[in-house]
Amino acid sequence: MIYHLQDKVVLITGASGGIGASCARELYKLGAKLVLTDLSQKALDTLAAEFAKERVLAMAMDVTDWKSIKKVTNIALSTFGKIDIVFANAGISWKESAYTVFNCDESEFKKILEVDLLGVWRTIKSTLPEVVKNKGQVVVTSSIYAFTNGMCNAPYATSKAGIEMLARSLRAELAGKSASASVLYPGWITTPLTEGVFGGDSLTTKMREIGFPPILRNTISPEKVAKALVKGLQHRKPRIIVPARWVPIQLFRGIVGIFSDWFLANHTRIQSMLLELEDRTKK
Ligand SMILES: NC(=O)c1ccc[n+]([C@@H]2O[C@H](COP(=O)([O-])OP(=O)(O)OC[C@H]3O[C@@H](n4cnc5c(N)ncnc54)[C@H](O)[C@@H]3O)[C@@H](O)[C@H]2O)c1
Repeated sequence: MIYHLQDKVVLITGASGGIGASCARELYKLGAKLVLTDLSQKALDTLAAEFAKERVLAMAMDVTDWKSIKKVTNIALSTFGKIDIVFANAGISWKESAYTVFNCDESEFKKILEVDLLGVWRTIKSTLPEVVKNKGQVVVTSSIYAFTNGMCNAPYATSKAGIEMLARSLRAELAGKSASASVLYPGWITTPLTEGVFGGDSLTTKMREIGFPPILRNTISPEKVAKALVKGLQHRKPRIIVPARWVPIQLFRGIVGIFSDWFLANHTRIQSMLLELEDRTKK
């Protein structure tokens, strides 16, 4: 049975980013009403200007701040009367350079977990009563980093693996309530988040090129993610993996993981680049 998106109220975090904005546009095309949230009100207003006023609410919201989430949830409810779908999508990675666990700054490591792991939990926890009441859906933006080695991106990968399990657990818990939770696993997407490993930083760019086989190396557009998200919502899919070339890796993640962990630990060039990276980012 298709879950129709017409008149569904969708709350999106990280809505003015690459994936968030593309998904907002795709959901809008199918008749959804949008609650767009992100850090910058100005960026949200620019995005909201693309849509009819009566079908959009744009409000700054910081996923590290309970008060901010609760305030926006309440305003969304008084504006639209309900929330059907929560798309917990906001996420960050290292601010400037990549780091290893050995030489990273503690506060930056913690900040990434605050946004990518606890921010998703806060967003879900604050809106879940509404989703359950409306037999709606929760989608978390995890990543292929939930099941591939997170070398040089440990707090990010830790968070993405964590929210994957959060949503899988939630899906089982919600089944008896006719609501559902799904995990979105984007591969490499052309957004500001991947600029470093696609030329912005020659060292991590090279590591990506050595660490991934050619078929898994390239980016796709956020518009493709949006199309996959919408299809996933319409069918309440447990897993939305995009691009599809990552499906076999997800399915055989156990065995692929054993091989890739071994490969990265034993590749002489990668190991010397890790030392180079630590040297470059030495405090
Ligand atoms: N780009 C990729 O290749 C890729 C791959 C897999 C998963 N993802 C995930 O997709 C999601 C969207 O990322 P994107 O690629 O569109 O990057 P993006 O940087 O364009 O968007 C991320 C958005 O999150 C917002 N944000 C950051 N901190 C926030 C906070 N504390 N509260 C609220 N919003 C906050 C940012 O302002 C930004 O608009 C992220 O969770 C990211 O980890 C991205």
